[in-house]
Amino acid sequence: MERTFVMLKPDAVQRGLIGEIIARFEKRGLKIIAMKFMKVSRDLAEKHYAVHKGRPFYDGLIQYITSGPVVAMVLQGPNAIQVARNTMGATNPVDAAAGTIRADFGLEIGRNLVHGSDGPETAAFEIGLWFGDELEDWDRDVDRWILE
Ligand code: RTP
Ligand code: MG
Repeated sequence: MERTFVMLKPDAVQRGLIGEIIARFEKRGLKIIAMKFMKVSRDLAEKHYAVHKGRPFYDGLIQYITSGPVVAMVLQGPNAIQVARNTMGATNPVDAAAGTIRADFGLEIGRNLVHGSDGPETAAFEIGLWFGDELEDWDRDVDRWILE
């Protein structure tokens, strides 16, 4: 079963949207197999966003992600990476489809509330970076009503 790394960014926490956003992933059927509430160190932020180093928005992005606590989690399910990103919506809330997290709660790309891994290699890297092997897979009784 596929796994993806999802983070509720500091704006989601500051705005009191933790429950509402997590509920969307839960209701979709993705299974939470790891979660923590934490302040992001500069070192972790730089490793996580290393791919963006040198881009014009990089410094602001590091500042944003380290500005307050985040909620980090690992979600599991069929096509979890794509499903999570579709639930989040396009990177820029202006382009995000109505009904997605970024469209329903956001206005600007620099305050887009959530992060989700963008592919299998990124997911494996990010899960390892944020959680190591601290994942708790569990039997969810309702799975037979979610997965055929
Ligand atoms: P994320 O990594 O956060 O899930 O977002 P994403 O894949 O949809 O977008 P990505 O291209 O990876 O960009 C990472 C984050 O950087 C910020 N950003 N700001 N001001 C800008 O032009 C700009 N471009 C990107 C956003 O917070 C974006 O989510
Ligand atoms: Mg990305």
